[in-house]
Amino acid sequence: MTDSIRFPERFLWGAATSAYQVEGSPLADGAGASNWHRFAHTPGMTANGETGDVACDHYRRMPEDVALMRRLGLTAYRFSLAWGRVLPEGTGRVNAAGLGFYDRLVDQLLAAGIAPNATLFHWDLPAALEDRGGWLNRDIAEWFAAYADTVVRRLGDRVAMWATLNEPWVVTDGGYLHGTLAPGHRSPYETPIASHNLLRAHGLGLRAIRAAGGRQAGLVVNLEPKYAASDRPEDQAATRRAEAYMNRQYLDPVFLGGYPAELAEIYGEAWPEFPAADFDVIRAPLDFLGVNYYTRAVHRHEPRAWPVGAGRVRQPQHTYTSMDWEVYPQAFTDVLLWVKARYGDCPLHITENGSAFYDPPTVEGEELADPLRVGYLRDHLRALHRAIAAGADVRGYFAWSPLDNFEWSAGYAKRFGLIHVDFATQRRTFKASARLYAEVIRTHGAALGA
Ligand code: BGC
Repeated sequence: MTDSIRFPERFLWGAATSAYQVEGSPLADGAGASNWHRFAHTPGMTANGETGDVACDHYRRMPEDVALMRRLGLTAYRFSLAWGRVLPEGTGRVNAAGLGFYDRLVDQLLAAGIAPNATLFHWDLPAALEDRGGWLNRDIAEWFAAYADTVVRRLGDRVAMWATLNEPWVVTDGGYLHGTLAPGHRSPYETPIASHNLLRAHGLGLRAIRAAGGRQAGLVVNLEPKYAASDRPEDQAATRRAEAYMNRQYLDPVFLGGYPAELAEIYGEAWPEFPAADFDVIRAPLDFLGVNYYTRAVHRHEPRAWPVGAGRVRQPQHTYTSMDWEVYPQAFTDVLLWVKARYGDCPLHITENGSAFYDPPTVEGEELADPLRVGYLRDHLRALHRAIAAGADVRGYFAWSPLDNFEWSAGYAKRFGLIHVDFATQRRTFKASARLYAEVIRTHGAALGA
């Protein structure tokens, strides 16, 4: 039995959501519209024109959802705040009712024995700030810090962990380069500016969280390990560019104080000069780094693949999720050890990991069978355990997601939940993956086998 899996005693077992993906009622109680509300209501931007207007109706069903999390046995829950609920214009006037929702959520979680882990920005920017240039306006770093200050003063006595931003890479790649996410721009000139202002906002936000008495403060990034399809120098170089663009673009400035050299090569004449002093703000030590891991990529040189010239090579021998992401748990182990090797010792949390697969219709009162998601969860938790055994300092795991929810431009068809949501009735049904996760939590991992 000595080799059975056992996670550290104080390891956090969590699950994660974000405001616009689950809450619904986006304009309730005086909230200001977000850029995502606007984007989703623009014809052609999301699958079937779907929006977050109702989503999981979590804004109104929050106590019931916290009870479900308790049934799962979660010891932590990661959620995000909708900036525009708190500050309808993005700056200035505070909306007491909006902040009150998160205040009640935090108390409800604590009463259920679940540690609150709050993210300040998970993609839904107040539309009023978008109108002032959004992430392209340098002032946004100060706007964000003032928002952080307001929230942390109110909730900081009870929230265990704060993240400034969720996945800045996705915000800029989807929102400013490819136009597939809000605000839907397509400009290589704007993209590095938005990235840089996100990082400055992160730095000033971190200071604001600490000054307002917040406990742990960190940043959440998505990492997708890159493997070269061959030893050919051009495939190796393409893979390095892809890795710099996606995995090092944010972590190098935060941990090492500068951008990877490959970015200037990727952006060419669109790559700006940034004031050196900005990096003093950006490079503030983190209490933790949040890593979101879903998949890996195998790359080969492909000049027309914009912007990095790296095409993806499909792996026909492996399973792909309904997002068309390869299931490859070993990369999860690899990437956590890569973070340690490159950036040194910083406590890590897995702030998202999960899979979308087609689920059959539910039958009242019955558990839903989701064997592919069960396999994904089991194999990734085993891979995580291998990384910890090899020295990665991982303190918690947050499954994405407790509930099926609004998958941004892909709408409601991509189901990531451990708990099924019938969006017509809002009925919640446990999936087999939820039962596995509850067993893993109860046994500190032993239910994963050796
Ligand atoms: C995001 C989530 C999203 C998930 C699955 C992450 O990129 O943080 O909001 O739903 O991945 O795509």
